[in-house]
Amino acid sequence: MCGIIGYVGKEDAAPILLEGLRRLEYRGYDSSGIAVMNGSKSIQLRKKSGRLQNLRNLVADQPTKGACGISHTRWATHGEPTDNNAHPHLDQSGNLAIVHNGVIENYQSLRDALEKEGHEFKSQTDSEVLAHLIGKIYDASDETDLHKRLISSLREALKQVSGTYGIAAMHTDSPKFLVGARLGSPLIVGVGHGENFLASDVGAVISHTSNAVYLNDRDIVCLTEDEFRVETVEGGISDYEVSEVEYTAEQADIGDYPHYMLKEIYEQPESIQNVFRGRLLDEEASAILGGLNMTPKQLRDVDRIVLCGCGTASHAAMAGEYIIESLARIPTEVEIASEFRYRNPPLDKNTLVFVISQSGETLDTLSAMREGQRKGHRVLGIVNAVGSTIARESDGGSYLYSGPEIGVAATKSFTSQVTMLALLGLLLGRMRHLSVDYGKNMLEEIRALPAKVERILEQSDRIKEIALKYIDAEGMLFLGRQFNYPTAMEAALKMKEISYIFASGHASAELKHGVIALVTEKLPSVFIMPNDSVYEKNVSSLEEVKARKGPCIAVTTEGNTEMERIADDVIYIPPVTECLSPILSVIPMQLLSYHFAVARGCDVDKPRNLAKSVTVE
Ligand code: M6R
Repeated sequence: MCGIIGYVGKEDAAPILLEGLRRLEYRGYDSSGIAVMNGSKSIQLRKKSGRLQNLRNLVADQPTKGACGISHTRWATHGEPTDNNAHPHLDQSGNLAIVHNGVIENYQSLRDALEKEGHEFKSQTDSEVLAHLIGKIYDASDETDLHKRLISSLREALKQVSGTYGIAAMHTDSPKFLVGARLGSPLIVGVGHGENFLASDVGAVISHTSNAVYLNDRDIVCLTEDEFRVETVEGGISDYEVSEVEYTAEQADIGDYPHYMLKEIYEQPESIQNVFRGRLLDEEASAILGGLNMTPKQLRDVDRIVLCGCGTASHAAMAGEYIIESLARIPTEVEIASEFRYRNPPLDKNTLVFVISQSGETLDTLSAMREGQRKGHRVLGIVNAVGSTIARESDGGSYLYSGPEIGVAATKSFTSQVTMLALLGLLLGRMRHLSVDYGKNMLEEIRALPAKVERILEQSDRIKEIALKYIDAEGMLFLGRQFNYPTAMEAALKMKEISYIFASGHASAELKHGVIALVTEKLPSVFIMPNDSVYEKNVSSLEEVKARKGPCIAVTTEGNTEMERIADDVIYIPPVTECLSPILSVIPMQLLSYHFAVARGCDVDKPRNLAKSVTVE
């Protein structure tokens, strides 16, 4: 949430900052700004509300000059998305600029005190308070080494704030020098040759360098074009290492696709394969997940599993609950991370907690993980973003290797997460009661998934026709049962977040307990009903909707001709073993919501009010 990029080097900073912001725009897109230090020691500030193009136009009209700068793309927390509230913010003197990601919780009391001392604020943001506070401490300091003075002012200011921050700052006294710090909001150093970067995400710097340092909470960093130094806010030594970024700028680019969401939907044959590549054990008819860092005995002792995540990741967890319980017979529960972190659920020593997160930075999920660890539990991560905070702080886990997911609507991360949970179920199941034959069959089924996904993607045009047929729908119901109840939840979330229509997902049999009251000729219902053990039950639910004149779209298994007669529209998925069906059945739902949203003129990659990675509470 909010994107930061800072640059110090020899090139003109503005194009580098604007390009970095383009790559970070998915983190927030309600306003943006840059501050560039020029040779004559003043800060050139350009800020604009709205999309990044507005800022580009402003910079084209009023160019900046200088090889050191900081920039920001915002997702508003405090104060509306106006030009003034956009970052960077200056201190009282106008000599210090900062960009900030996170929330300063005690900003109001700090602001009141600063105002009493004569400070004048230009925005309603919490972040501007931080700029004034650092500037005030800096101006009062008698430290003659100006670099040290800026670092110690930042350090002192951070001791006075509560909340979260990823920040970058610069001062006119040190025109080619950047400082930064993080607590709860990600920040990385991009390590270049004769240039260095600070950013909230490696994606921002990937076209300049593939070497990055993932900073830890309470790290403070300073950079010149030739070197950087990392310490803790308290002044201690920080452990850091330079890592190689695992994807290229090309992989993060949109290519010929009109939207990242569509690109990522189409990447699923490969991203699913990336989950199971090297993790299937033919000889043992099982899976191997080395990153769990657990011995077979420890895995055998697990008697309960808790799966924790937010949004799409929580729906993947729901599918995981069904899969793990059916394959391994281990009681499994799903906890919404934002709930888990504030409740006090009883967990015993044989309970294994997994946090599931594409970004590895979602604050609620991260906090849930830390809460579990605080109570002495082993918390494992199922994460996509390599080097992310959850990946680094968890007690082990498995990467999804899906490549960057940039569309705000999660697509390939869902199918990868469910595939990973299926591997986990298989592994734990084969250590318990699952037979060799069952295991072998599962391996075949898993290996067959990418080709089956390809077959579904070929139906995109047909799904688009269906989307257009219902384009005036004011809402949509998504119904599924057993393994596809989570699919219904996920399908409804996709539709809501990118089309802005009311949509809700339910277990099909729940219809008659209330939801059916909504059914009219104008409310389409989508039934996710492959030919499985509950197919007939789903048919009955669908008939109940038809009897009330509700239009019905059925997602069912290839070869099912019955639905051609009963449903208004039919989408087919290839046959698949029941527990893996959500991995296939969700794909037509992603395409349906995509085509529906595009036809309604919605910005599918940047839906209103949202941002990709939610790093605030
Ligand atoms: O990065 P995470 O997987 O932790 O993100 C969790 C949710 O914020 C995310 O899945 C969100 O619900 C998606 N935008 C839904 O498409």
